Amino acid sequence: MALRIAWLLLLAALAAGQPPARTEVGPAVCHPDCSKHGTCGEDGFCRCPFGRLGEACETDFLAPCRQFPDTEALCGSVFGKSCECLRRCREWFCIKDSGGWEFCHGLVPRSPRACYEREGVPPDQQYSKFPEPGEKGVKCYTSWEAGAAEADCSTVATLGVDVSFPLSKCPDQCSKRGWVTALFCFAHCTSTACLVERDVRWDHLFALFVPAVPAGRGECIGEYCHCKPPYFSIDCSRSKVYPPAHSLPSPVDFKIYIYEIPTRLSYENKQFAGWSHFDQIYVAWQMFLRQFLVSSVRTEDPSAANLFFLGDFVYGYTGNTAPGNEHFHLLIDHVKHRHPYWNATNGTDHFLWSTTDRGGCYLQGDAQNAIKLVHFGMTSTPNWHSPVFPHVGHPNYGCTHPLRDVVTPPHDLYASQWLQQSLKLTLDEMLALKKRMLFFSGGILPDVADYSGGSRAILHRLAKEWADPDYVLGTGDERPADFNYHKYLRTSKFCLSAYGHGWGIRMVQIMLNGCVPLIVQEYVLQSHEEVLPYETFSIRLTNEDLPHLREILRGISEEQYRSLLQGVRQYMPAFAWDPSAGGRAFDYTIASLRRRYLNYKASYYNSVYMQQ
Ligand SMILES: *[C@@H]1O[C@H](CO)[C@@H](O)[C@H](O)[C@H]1NC(C)=O
Ligand SMILES: *[C@@H]1O[C@H](CO)[C@@H](O)[C@H](O)[C@H]1NC(C)=O
Repeated sequence: MALRIAWLLLLAALAAGQPPARTEVGPAVCHPDCSKHGTCGEDGFCRCPFGRLGEACETDFLAPCRQFPDTEALCGSVFGKSCECLRRCREWFCIKDSGGWEFCHGLVPRSPRACYEREGVPPDQQYSKFPEPGEKGVKCYTSWEAGAAEADCSTVATLGVDVSFPLSKCPDQCSKRGWVTALFCFAHCTSTACLVERDVRWDHLFALFVPAVPAGRGECIGEYCHCKPPYFSIDCSRSKVYPPAHSLPSPVDFKIYIYEIPTRLSYENKQFAGWSHFDQIYVAWQMFLRQFLVSSVRTEDPSAANLFFLGDFVYGYTGNTAPGNEHFHLLIDHVKHRHPYWNATNGTDHFLWSTTDRGGCYLQGDAQNAIKLVHFGMTSTPNWHSPVFPHVGHPNYGCTHPLRDVVTPPHDLYASQWLQQSLKLTLDEMLALKKRMLFFSGGILPDVADYSGGSRAILHRLAKEWADPDYVLGTGDERPADFNYHKYLRTSKFCLSAYGHGWGIRMVQIMLNGCVPLIVQEYVLQSHEEVLPYETFSIRLTNEDLPHLREILRGISEEQYRSLLQGVRQYMPAFAWDPSAGGRAFDYTIASLRRRYLNYKASYYNSVYMQQ
């Protein structure tokens, strides 16, 4: 009964547009039925499983996007869906902000898109179970939009490069746990149950983010964990809510608060967990999040936080090229209205991950004010710019603010393996492996002016002129017969680290394989430059220096090279994310964030300056 009264009082406050009037630390208060389907994550906020809505998550909104009543609901472009599912996916991902403007983010179905309907079946039960051949009462349409023309059902099966099949193609209907497509066997099924054709890419599955929940505190389906009261949060780790002005941030301890966000606004969407859309190199943010959730830098008390973390899951909404402006707008609009912290600093002490190839280059709106964790540190601005990189970003700082944003290393699937192998070698053993001066292998793209700021093309051209066997630069056919990427990195003294269309993975590969990076990336800040002494383990040149490269490298004495390689050995853990393999990228990211917090407190920059 007490719970119900607390809830009613809270409801009245929320209805009046006020923040919850909590004065004591204690368990969260929600609708009394919240825990049935959801998790009471903060006062008045029942965090629902993906696809459910309502104060107690009572509405199974995306039910038509399940194959069976109790399997997972999925939107996105993989496999043919029911028309009702597509209609609801649109509604789920198109949300009105506080100003009444609709923003669509994420997996909004594109129109026209063919779909199917089962006659006489109520909307909530129009499950997205791909029709069996000759199934009675199935009608197909050219689109999910009202008034769409009828279509041949074969048109539903093919969507881009993806081809859907009925579940009868698999034994036991894929154990009711998978989907059948030509390209991809979706989550939770065994390979034999779902293999319809080759090209099942299992390596992509384990890249999904699944929180680690302490035993007995909850059950997870995908990213969503249904926590047992009083536990809540993404990993069921919290049990207390704090009043807004409970404490003050410590000037000594560095603490970060992660917001509790509705699954409708931020979730590990699985569209990109299949076939061509998901790539391991984009999951550094997961490695960060996993370690952050259990680290001592996390605080449950937002008023004690130095910085605020918006868990944005942006990769699942945009893939690797779109900036996700709509997604960030909705997310920030939400935290701005529910909590006092964004407005207090205009977002300057908030951070978010922007994992796209070009990092913060195309971000707009409120997200501009926050600290961005990116992999691409381009600082060329529209007013002071690289001759070849497009004149994008903010007029004052381009894509990355050197005093505010944090450049982090991307994740490489082999990072742990390489790091462990390298750490076993002594410096002399590493030196003894070196057989040539310089190595690079990768795309050159001489006709794409902004690709790698031209550096790859310039060096490639020069290397052809030199025809010096000590300089191995090649792509495809030009590679030597005994080519092995990892071995060539290990056996070369210097390895070229140039960027590509956006950030590159090479710096990570070079460092972890014990090669000294030759960084040619004009205007681009490197990972953790503010906390790593790059001069002790790399050399940096401009495009203009490249014609003299051989003289420059010849001028580096054996003793100097030895010292650089020692630097590589010392700092390579900063480029790997897995702590169990010795990776320390998480620690360096926290150190960088802490530096950023100090820059902000010292007024080295401010949001007003950044708006000009
Ligand atoms: C923050 O500012 C916006 C205006 O930008 C306002 O609508 C909102 O109510 C404020 N949030 C809080 C919690 O006061
Ligand atoms: C806060 O940021 C917004 C843009 O996000 C800007 O229009 C406004 O001037 C800023 N206000 C202050 C006080 O910095």
